[in-house]
Amino acid sequence: MSKKFPYAVRRLDDCQNVADFRELAQRRLPYPVFHYIDGAADDESTKDRNTAAFEDVDLVPDVLVGADNIDPSATIMGRTTSLPLMLSPTALQRLFHWQGERATAAVAEKFNLWFGISSLSSVSIEEVGANYAGPKMLQYYYHKDRGLNAALVERAKAAKFDAITLTVDTVVSGNRERCKRTGFQTPPKITPASFLSYATHPAWALNFLFREKFDLPNLSTHVAAGSNASISIQDYFNSMLDPGLNWQAAEHLRDQWGGKFCLKGVMSVGDARRAADMGVDAIMVSNHGGRQLDGSRAPFDQLDEIVQAVGDRMEVILDGGVRRGSHVLKALATGAKGVSGGRLYLYALAAAGQPGVDRAVGLLDAEIRRGMQLMGVNRVDQLTPDKLRRR
Ligand code: FNR
Ligand code: LAC
Repeated sequence: MSKKFPYAVRRLDDCQNVADFRELAQRRLPYPVFHYIDGAADDESTKDRNTAAFEDVDLVPDVLVGADNIDPSATIMGRTTSLPLMLSPTALQRLFHWQGERATAAVAEKFNLWFGISSLSSVSIEEVGANYAGPKMLQYYYHKDRGLNAALVERAKAAKFDAITLTVDTVVSGNRERCKRTGFQTPPKITPASFLSYATHPAWALNFLFREKFDLPNLSTHVAAGSNASISIQDYFNSMLDPGLNWQAAEHLRDQWGGKFCLKGVMSVGDARRAADMGVDAIMVSNHGGRQLDGSRAPFDQLDEIVQAVGDRMEVILDGGVRRGSHVLKALATGAKGVSGGRLYLYALAAAGQPGVDRAVGLLDAEIRRGMQLMGVNRVDQLTPDKLRRR
């Protein structure tokens, strides 16, 4: 997103879009933390394409249809939400802002949206289950430690989660070069090079030091990385996750869980068909926000062929690159049932905690509603492929 009007973003009130929240987050965070959120794999070409892909397709509106009764609600994995927008599961949120997942959950609840917590969330499955009534998924990383795997399922059941989403694109860590340069670890380890950045962001540093101690409570009963051993995400993935993850393991997990089940990171038509054959409820067409396989296709570029192949057999959710309400409309018109994003709320969380996420989601809510009115559609199922043209 380019700035059409030169201004500096200094306060929450200055934020009009995701790019503004990104700028504010960069101003307020120590650089290792900002670059962990903002960064992706290798040259980050996939991350860039994830958003750029939306520009190759244009919306073609209908007019004079009476756009005075807009209903942007959607039903995804059996739950009706007020918007077709979902907040993707992302790790470590209390590092970005001390309110962490609590802020994201509160905003998801206010707007009645699907929201996911990561296996590596900094607030526990139990706490989210007890305090958040909206539709919630546990993002599941398949660990080598079978005891941990089983415990995650049991805890999600006991906490009455609505879905488990197995991430399938992370059998090994992507090459996060920004993190290698900054030395980002969790919990953060202050290096001589990064010391100045932590010292010159005292609000972040004081919150980190003096509020509730950082923890990864879904893991801490099983692995040291869940407590306070400092480790890079890359090392965590490569030492803890099981690269042997395969279709049998996915089926086994689905059967153990027995509830709504989603695969996150399906990109090929062949895999989408196999997921439909297996009877999964939904797939997220996703490349992990460009953080895993750089050079992989953008979800929006790949969406049409997946919807054509399996859209009548299971729900297809687009995940990644979404920065505008118009991106949501384009994905829905292509056939997605729901549209999910991480950085669209993460920059705002990092910049300003719950009021930040509230403002970011509020702006997207307004963009989606206004976009539907300007498109001449009252309901999301009226967004059909004939309302799009490829350039
Ligand atoms: C993620 N994502 C992610 N995915 C996942 O399955 N488990 C996880 O723990 C995380 N953690 C995580 C942390 C951060 C900082 C980011 C930016 C992303 C990926 C996330 O769920 C989603 O797929 C991407 O964020 C989508 O791309 P956009 O919306 O950020 O462009
Ligand atoms: C990431 C994780 C944790 O992308 O999935 O950093």
